[in-house]
Amino acid sequence: MLVTNKDLMSPAMQKAYAVGAFNISNLESLMAVVEAAAEERSPVIVAVTPSSIKYAGLAYIGKMVKAAAESASVLMSLHLDHGKDVETVTKCMEVGFTSVMIDGSHLKFEENVALTKRVVDLARPKGVSVEAELGKLAGVEESTVEEKEAVLTDPDAAEEFVERTGVDALAVAIGTSHGAYKFKGEPKLDFERLKLIREKVSVLLVLHGASSVPSWIIEKAVKYGAELGGAKGIPEEHIQKAISLGITKINIDTDLRLAFTAATREFLVKSPKVFDPRKILGSAKEAMKEVVKGKMRLFGSSGKAL
Ligand code: G3H
Ligand code: 13P
Ligand code: ZN
Repeated sequence: MLVTNKDLMSPAMQKAYAVGAFNISNLESLMAVVEAAAEERSPVIVAVTPSSIKYAGLAYIGKMVKAAAESASVLMSLHLDHGKDVETVTKCMEVGFTSVMIDGSHLKFEENVALTKRVVDLARPKGVSVEAELGKLAGVEESTVEEKEAVLTDPDAAEEFVERTGVDALAVAIGTSHGAYKFKGEPKLDFERLKLIREKVSVLLVLHGASSVPSWIIEKAVKYGAELGGAKGIPEEHIQKAISLGITKINIDTDLRLAFTAATREFLVKSPKVFDPRKILGSAKEAMKEVVKGKMRLFGSSGKAL
């Protein structure tokens, strides 16, 4: 059944675990996420970005995820990830998304407040939960204190933002970033900042850019021809620490893309006579599924199906 992110994250907040939000863009990635959730008995958030909607079409995405939810044995939500405008949010709600993110993090504070509030006002009567973002997901390891303050989430601003917008969930910037190249040197997150934010706001907190970029996946992809030198993600201990400090939703996209790439490259090299897409993509699906299951165990959501 489809429920909202809030329905999935509120129990997580009480019991100190996090629900994974996994980005999907095709049938195989959706199957990987839903099968992993069923096998782990875990709640799960199926996340879709505007560029995935552009790729697959909103009608396909909406119907495909709803079909999966009808037969799923665990609760899941269908979430718009990084929605940038009211039009996209409205269209997603029309086809049955149960949760939306309005990402005004690139805007000035007042503009972000106004856009987010507008989306909250549209979503609330429909029972759709809303996530917003304050601060920017930029790599900050070599930045000065002033530069960090300009991009990372300010706890006082977070308090004011939440109060004025009424959002259900807030994505915070504490040093993570999207993609496979998150740090040049040692991975470092601003946990002190996360603690302060947690003290100031009572909404659900979200960590974007949380892929770990596992070295074993990188090594496999490289062995079969990928060029991924210097890729580095968030260590798993950092993820656990973030959960212990109140993060209840963790976004993963890159690790699934890497698993897909490594498995497909390996399969094509090892099985040169196979030309059945179901076999090629089937191996990629299994690889993504294993990654999702591992995340569910790491986040503590395994066995927490409602
Ligand atoms: O923020 C989410 C993604 O990792 C970027 O996704 O390439 O589908 O826009 P996208
Ligand atoms: P990664 O690129 O670290 O997987 O982050 C994904 C994300 O935040 C999607 O919103
Ligand atoms: Zn993100």
